[in-house]
Amino acid sequence: MPYGILRAGLRVSASELQVFGLRQSLTRPSLKGSMEPIIETRDLTRRFGELTAVDRLNLAIAPGEIFGLVGPDGAGKTTTLRMLCGLVSPTEGSARVAGHDVVKESQAVKDQIGYMAQRFGLYLDLTVEENMFFYADLFGILGEERRELTARLLRMTRMEPFRGRQGGKLSGGMKQKLALMCTLLHRPQILFLDEPTNGVDPVSRRDFWTILYQLLKDGITIFMTTAYLDEAERCNRVGLMHKGKLIRCDTPERLRLAAGAESLEAVFVQTIQAVEAMGAR
Ligand SMILES: Nc1ncnc2c1ncn2[C@@H]1O[C@H](COP(=O)(O)OP(=O)(O)O)[C@@H](O)[C@H]1O
Ligand SMILES: [Mg+2]
Repeated sequence: MPYGILRAGLRVSASELQVFGLRQSLTRPSLKGSMEPIIETRDLTRRFGELTAVDRLNLAIAPGEIFGLVGPDGAGKTTTLRMLCGLVSPTEGSARVAGHDVVKESQAVKDQIGYMAQRFGLYLDLTVEENMFFYADLFGILGEERRELTARLLRMTRMEPFRGRQGGKLSGGMKQKLALMCTLLHRPQILFLDEPTNGVDPVSRRDFWTILYQLLKDGITIFMTTAYLDEAERCNRVGLMHKGKLIRCDTPERLRLAAGAESLEAVFVQTIQAVEAMGAR
């Protein structure tokens, strides 16, 4: 099942990237030396009845890293993210995020993170600015701080001209930028993004990545899931999840070298086929 495992329409060739200027304009900020992990999981597991959605996941993410979790639908990516955000409790194992246990100290975890869900709740009848104010109120950000932060985020995302536009009248790319701004309002140390650019056009995706790299430069750690393998290439490290298990995890370069493959897509198709063949034996 060559491409069946991944969502249709994910392939973007190098030449297309050139057209969109992705290759030239985006340089991933480099990671500083080794430090204590800011996210760490130990045999993190979640079952739903008979189904093991996440199966003994062991991961360590460094501060300032951008980590991409990829895998077919149903692999367990969202469940992993939700456990790390303290929204779903693990069945077994544990995880620490920003120095706190995700179960015992879930409020402390939530104070340090921003979570942009696959379907982020925006109010379509409110304007861009009103949506931001709504989330600012939720986070208890008021007065001068709210004004200053909103203005800065609108500037950074180049959404200033659209501040008065209703949520329902925004393009897909703009909606995602607005969701990101709302997630950033309480100045999280770590951003969890669940397929943030799904269904967004390539030009807006590039825009979104420019913002992500800016956030990395500001010292934020990013843990994201994506179905786009060209986006996975832009991460410091990539984890491939399949049926709840992390079956590969390394830098995009090393993953390609180890598999003797030209693209991450080839690595993942090969790896999943090999794992399935072993399972079928
Ligand atoms: N609340 C739930 N109840 C029962 N099954 C669930 C629940 N959430 C997720 N699952 C199942 O767990 C598996 C992993 O889902 P998910 O983490 O959403 O995967 P992904 O994000 O990689 O598509 C799927 O088989 C899904 O149907
Ligand atoms: Mg998901």
